Amino acid sequence: MELLEAIRRRKTTNGPFLPDPVAEFDQRLLIEAAGRAPSQLNSQPWRFVVIDERSLIEQIAEISGGSMTEAMSNGTFFERYKRYFRFSQREMETRRDGMLFDRMPAPLRPFTTQVFTPRGQKMMNALKVPQTLGAENRRLVSGSPLLLAALLDRAEYRPGELSSFYSVFSLGAAMENVWLTTLQLGMGIQFVSFPMEVPGQWERIETLLDVPDDLELMAVYRLGYLPADQRRPSIDWTSHQRKLPSQYVFDNSCRVPRVGWDSPPAE
Ligand SMILES: Cc1cc2nc3c(=O)[nH]c(=O)nc-3n(C[C@H](O)[C@H](O)[C@H](O)COP(=O)(O)O)c2cc1C
Repeated sequence: MELLEAIRRRKTTNGPFLPDPVAEFDQRLLIEAAGRAPSQLNSQPWRFVVIDERSLIEQIAEISGGSMTEAMSNGTFFERYKRYFRFSQREMETRRDGMLFDRMPAPLRPFTTQVFTPRGQKMMNALKVPQTLGAENRRLVSGSPLLLAALLDRAEYRPGELSSFYSVFSLGAAMENVWLTTLQLGMGIQFVSFPMEVPGQWERIETLLDVPDDLELMAVYRLGYLPADQRRPSIDWTSHQRKLPSQYVFDNSCRVPRVGWDSPPAE
């Protein structure tokens, strides 16, 4: 696959993967791609835990689903992230960022405008939306043949110091390499970050992975091969929309937006 095509097609997989184990050859390619990323002074601050043990995957799935239910039912998730939620194509096209909830069970649709009010939260809790979503998330994670934990060496990741920014930046580059390589391999990938949203849950994953004091667990992903027909969860979003270059590029000065680049360049 051409690199540019892969960049354009890259997306988050919200649905299930095939249960097939990820071939060791493919796992090694993903890790090689990660390790080829740039890093400050070639420090290579990233570390990875490849997780394919069933019981471990299931325990992490339970933590993930439970965290999602908790963050959604106590309101912290919606409060924290409400500015990224879109409920109509029109809103998405105007804002060009955030997540468009384009798949929603019919009984819930009338309530989307109230989702961020105390009444809306009560309604969602009464309809057990957080439980439904948490159970679905648990199934998605436990049905994944592979999880990948991304860590940083604490000798490089020193919060409050410049090195912390450099190492996070480097890990981001490594993960983008992994992400792009999944396309070549017919795989998908999704962040598992709800356990970070709920106090105590990330630490449970650190314990399961025996993370030592000199490493910091930064992210967990689920990966697998993509089925031919990709089923969507009952509540689902798309976030393929992107801002126009004139919204994020400036011309020599931050006061001057770059105009004329909003349609793709002619090949
Ligand atoms: C730091 C970070 C955390 C993220 N956390 C989650 C997550 O918890 N669950 C999820 O499905 N996607 C997560 N994502 C993926 C973004 O939602 C996604 O990249 C964005 O909406 C654009 O969609 P796309 O990847 O399909 O292009 C995360 C991405 C980043 C960079």
